[in-house]
Amino acid sequence: MASETPILSIVGVTKTFGGLVAVNDLSMDIHEGEAVGLMGPNGAGKTTIITIISGQYKPDRGMIKFKGNDISGLPPHSICHLGISRTYQIPQPFGNLTALQNIAVAAMYGKGVGKAAAEAEASKIIDIVGLSDKRDVPARDLMAITLKRLELARALATNPKLLLIDEVAAGLIETEIPRLLNILKEVRSMGITYILIEHVLKVMMEAVDRVTVIDYGTKIAEGKPSEVMEDKKVITAYFG
Ligand SMILES: Nc1ncnc2c1ncn2[C@@H]1O[C@H](COP(=O)(O)OP(=O)(O)OP(=O)(O)O)[C@@H](O)[C@H]1O
Ligand SMILES: [Mg+2]
Repeated sequence: MASETPILSIVGVTKTFGGLVAVNDLSMDIHEGEAVGLMGPNGAGKTTIITIISGQYKPDRGMIKFKGNDISGLPPHSICHLGISRTYQIPQPFGNLTALQNIAVAAMYGKGVGKAAAEAEASKIIDIVGLSDKRDVPARDLMAITLKRLELARALATNPKLLLIDEVAAGLIETEIPRLLNILKEVRSMGITYILIEHVLKVMMEAVDRVTVIDYGTKIAEGKPSEVMEDKKVITAYFG
């Protein structure tokens, strides 16, 4: 594994907002087929990292390499077409379009296919995320929790090789967690590599191979989920 070119390399990336250093000289490699967790307290810089990877923010320093090629500076649609897709912590659907139409629009955008092919693709994906019964409901009428699954579906519809998932379990009740874990398993079986940002520990423990923990934009620990949870630096970052 280690000798292969990583699917994604974050190389010394720094991002500041005014005087605030949101991401501080961060480096990490992700290999094809891996599921990697990204943890850290509120404001640690997790969302900023995936916003940089997906091209909406440019890093101040450092670069992002996808399959060995520098992609930092490419516009978001080019990065999407290369095979990187993200979800948003706050879902951003088209409220007046149905669940199925929202997914189909993402398929048209990401795959460059026509309406009929996009709707066929959307029908497959809506099954995977378990929203078939909501297919004709306008997104504005869906509950917040359902919108999280629609976010995942929209990201999947662009046919990603690498999926960046930002807190998709937030707000789920206990009994809904196994269903989400099954969806993530299905995503893996589709051959998709993912980075998962998650505060829900049960999800993190079961859905990733390893975890990187950041605090104030700096990596403070990495390893197996069970190991990093016991790391003193991690406990201090979360609980002071
Ligand atoms: N567009 C922006 N302009 C100014 N500051 C920003 C911007 N985006 C993020 N920040 C700041 O950068 C830091 C990192 O934010 P980020 O959203 O990446 O954290 P996070 O780890 O995703 O937190 P959370 O767990 O709350 O989602 C925070 O201090 C945040 O206020
Ligand atoms: Mg965030």
